[in-house]
Amino acid sequence: MSKCKKLLIFGATGLVGRHIVQQIIKGKDAFDRIAIFTSPRTVSSKSGDIADLKNSGIEILVGNITDEDDVKKAYQGIDTVISAVGRNMIQHQTELIRLADETPNIHRFFPSEYGTDIEHGPESAGEKPHQNKLKVRSFIRSCRNLEYTFLVTGPYADGDPVLYLSPNHGATVTGSFDVRTKKAVLLGSGDLKIAFTTMTDVGKLLLAALTHPDASRNKALKVKSFTTTDTAILEAFEKQTGGEKWDVSYTSVEDLKRLEKEAWQTGNPLATVMTLRRIWATGGTLYDKWDNEVIGTPAVQNLAEAVTAAIDVQLHGEQELKRKLV
Ligand SMILES: NC(=O)c1ccc[n+]([C@@H]2O[C@H](COP(=O)([O-])OP(=O)(O)OC[C@H]3O[C@@H](n4cnc5c(N)ncnc54)[C@H](OP(=O)(O)O)[C@@H]3O)[C@@H](O)[C@H]2O)c1
Repeated sequence: MSKCKKLLIFGATGLVGRHIVQQIIKGKDAFDRIAIFTSPRTVSSKSGDIADLKNSGIEILVGNITDEDDVKKAYQGIDTVISAVGRNMIQHQTELIRLADETPNIHRFFPSEYGTDIEHGPESAGEKPHQNKLKVRSFIRSCRNLEYTFLVTGPYADGDPVLYLSPNHGATVTGSFDVRTKKAVLLGSGDLKIAFTTMTDVGKLLLAALTHPDASRNKALKVKSFTTTDTAILEAFEKQTGGEKWDVSYTSVEDLKRLEKEAWQTGNPLATVMTLRRIWATGGTLYDKWDNEVIGTPAVQNLAEAVTAAIDVQLHGEQELKRKLV
């Protein structure tokens, strides 16, 4: 029976990675070793974050993620690798996985997923934003020794730029909740159901997957904080911002599809997000069942809590978010 006790994390100071690390720190008594692998650039540009991690007992391993020797060295004494690298590095994970598969002490790899199920239905195989993650899944399944867990969370219910509870500046028409102007753009007629996970809960649910290694072995583990609609999200924002009605407009799913198509045709960098929003709005996050229970039903946040945090992040930005990381 394999256990996840000696952890190495890639992408530890990224958008979702920092939430994952915060929750692992909270559960650190369950582990023998917790290390992050990061670049010299991050060590200098995020020196405060790195110092905080060190003070929390995290080992900081510094190197070049594309240098085989640096990665091999970092893999010594590790049994579980957690990757939270950004979209630009998704494909490079096949190298990280190959090296992990060749390292006898490593038995489990969590690739950077933390999104929609990329194998939800037959149409998933053709979705452009899924292609690199699909290659990673296929590669890890072909490994001889490694076990894997794909943590499938759906969209994040958070207010950081571009996320679902944000103003979504630059693409407001594809969905927006703007606390400062009290304006929202809802998809469809506002009643489309979407299953969300807050980034705090991504961390909590990943921690639960680590401490339930048998239940999470070789699975796409589908987890969530809650399922809701744009109308319910809007009502929560209105209630928590003084009670007055926001100025609301709607974008139909047909219009969203048209905007998505145009974005790909014109090379708009927001095309990926538009495709994901279309997938989310059309049932792509609604599964037959979720796996929170098989990893011990960790306590997750509700919509009101997610909206409270999103208001903070929208009004006070990253510093406030960091202060409030729980
Ligand atoms: N469900 C959703 O709504 C949603 C939203 C956003 C992202 N996601 C998913 O979450 C995962 C992580 O995305 P993210 O937005 O959190 O990532 P991110 O903040 O863009 O990047 C994460 C980390 O990747 C590492 N990295 C990136 N480029 C690198 C390079 N050239 N060399 C070395 N390291 C590099 C860095 O690690 P260090 O910290 O060590 O510097 C960085 O902090 C992805 O799979 C993404 O698809 C899901």
